[in-house]
Amino acid sequence: MHIFKEIADLQLWLAQQRKAGNSIAFIPTMGALHHGHLTLVEAGRATGALTVASIFVNPTQFNDPKDLEKYPRTPEKDLELLLKVHCDAVFFPEVTEIYPVGKSLTLHLDFGTMEQVMEGKFRPGHFNGMATVVKRLLDIVQPNQLYMGQKDYQQLSIVRQMLFLLGSTVELVMVPTVRESDGLAMSSRNVRLSPEMRALAPALYKVLSSAAQLVSSSDLRDLEQKAMLELEQQGFSPEYFEIVDGHTLLPLEKDSDARQAVICTAVWAQDVRLIDNVLVNEF
Ligand code: PAJ
Repeated sequence: MHIFKEIADLQLWLAQQRKAGNSIAFIPTMGALHHGHLTLVEAGRATGALTVASIFVNPTQFNDPKDLEKYPRTPEKDLELLLKVHCDAVFFPEVTEIYPVGKSLTLHLDFGTMEQVMEGKFRPGHFNGMATVVKRLLDIVQPNQLYMGQKDYQQLSIVRQMLFLLGSTVELVMVPTVRESDGLAMSSRNVRLSPEMRALAPALYKVLSSAAQLVSSSDLRDLEQKAMLELEQQGFSPEYFEIVDGHTLLPLEKDSDARQAVICTAVWAQDVRLIDNVLVNEF
């Protein structure tokens, strides 16, 4: 497995690989890797492409400096895990490599309401920072395919919109959420859950799954309110629980012609923020 810290070295290697006829699958991450991340690498490998993962804790997408400080960093373990799944190359840059001092790289794309709802309401500026770094990484790697997780559905939708607005030919592949055996969606933040909150956390997926069963037979706004109440009673502090059109991310209406419905939620389990979602096919 090749490990690159500098753009120039990575690009030299990538050029050789492209010349040899290889297709490149790119998996951006912020490290603290778990099986969910590794599944993205495996999905890329399964297509026969060369896999390039990046590990970069992107400061511009953290609206809370304390969250950035507390973000888990496990570089050695990450590299070991990537080696195990036969990832071909890892891009592991310093902050100044991605954001050179004195150069403004902030992306100004208009994502409209997509970046104002749900996560956007509670994490102002987050998606702009996320899109800025994903664009920067795509410009560096120039992959054929980009692998992202359903776990962060709104993030993936915004990246899809960004690729569309930029007229990009990169193919975005969504990988289904990987869960622990008790249903908790794998997340780098899970290691920060206290034993008590770790025991409670699977209830989030249970509430999502129960709501998914009731979508076709319920008033949707009523269902959202009941789920918020249920999450509170379980011991979470819920921020939102929304049943949305999977493309616009706006509240789903019964008579809409949406092709995909998604239920998205974010809660605090004491001081750890958890997000999760489920796709709904009958609504
Ligand atoms: P990070 O949280 O490290 O996630 C990297 C990728 O792994 C994302 O596409 C995310 O959706 C996916 N992922 C995380 N947990 C998953 C799970 N349980 N199942 C399936 N996929 C999962 O998301 C980011 O980093 C950053 O915002 C990034 C896109 C790298 C930009 O900085």
